Amino acid sequence: MGREFKLRPAPGDDDSDSGNEGRSLIDRRRFNRYAFNASAGVITMASLGSIGFASMLMGQASTGGGDSAVKYWVPMGSEDTVWYGANHLKTMKKSDFESEAAKSSTGMAGAQGLWSGLPVNVVYVPHDENAGTPLQMDKPRMQFADGYTDLGTGKYVGHGDEMLGTVFEPHDNLLVIFSRCPHLCCIPGWQLVANPNTADNWVPGGVDTSGNKLFCICHSSRYDPTVLEMNENRNRSNGETFQYFGILRTGGPAPVGMPLIPFEVNADVIEALPDYMDWYTYCD
Ligand code: FES
Repeated sequence: MGREFKLRPAPGDDDSDSGNEGRSLIDRRRFNRYAFNASAGVITMASLGSIGFASMLMGQASTGGGDSAVKYWVPMGSEDTVWYGANHLKTMKKSDFESEAAKSSTGMAGAQGLWSGLPVNVVYVPHDENAGTPLQMDKPRMQFADGYTDLGTGKYVGHGDEMLGTVFEPHDNLLVIFSRCPHLCCIPGWQLVANPNTADNWVPGGVDTSGNKLFCICHSSRYDPTVLEMNENRNRSNGETFQYFGILRTGGPAPVGMPLIPFEVNADVIEALPDYMDWYTYCD
């Protein structure tokens, strides 16, 4: 699969949602309790907007093959509250997510992770079970959407279903998502704080009023991990734009959503693929 995608003409779009009105914001001191707490605090710094950390961490990836597995990352202060609290730096397994999802009213489960030094979110969506049923609340499945860039032009970029037949085609009811907020590069989380956007409910269509969003605590950007689109982002260092497959930003100041990371499940272990590392450098 090539990395260059063909653009198609589409109507303009003026999405200027500032996103913070009427929402409860958590102060940054409290956020630090939830921020990633190792790598000499580097990730916590990044959560507060430090530019350049991704390139530092990306350099930690070894070439020995053992880095392909995605590991759990338990945010500081949430060891007793997240379902994977005892699994810090242990290998993520699909069966873990299936077990946790069985306790959910939506059948979804998510966790913070680390892959080759990069922060990720892994989200389980019971797509295979629900895709053949009528759309209804709390029956989540993968949805494909149009992507419109918010990098000044509002142009149409592409449709999420263009990932079908590629390495990004959804499988195993799982998504691995690069977890750097395109606003100011904090690390969004899965149900790390309680609010209407993180509650365990689901509404079709990627609307911003429902729960099970990835939530960025810095300025409350929200992302629906069940809505997959093609969109465009810009590298902060060199200004170059790139197109990617990713999840939908539903609200808040982030201009676009976050990119997917292709992966495989081998003997129950979730292993990510390094084919599109250039998609994960926009915060460098
Ligand atoms: S860094 Fe501002 S909303 Fe995420």
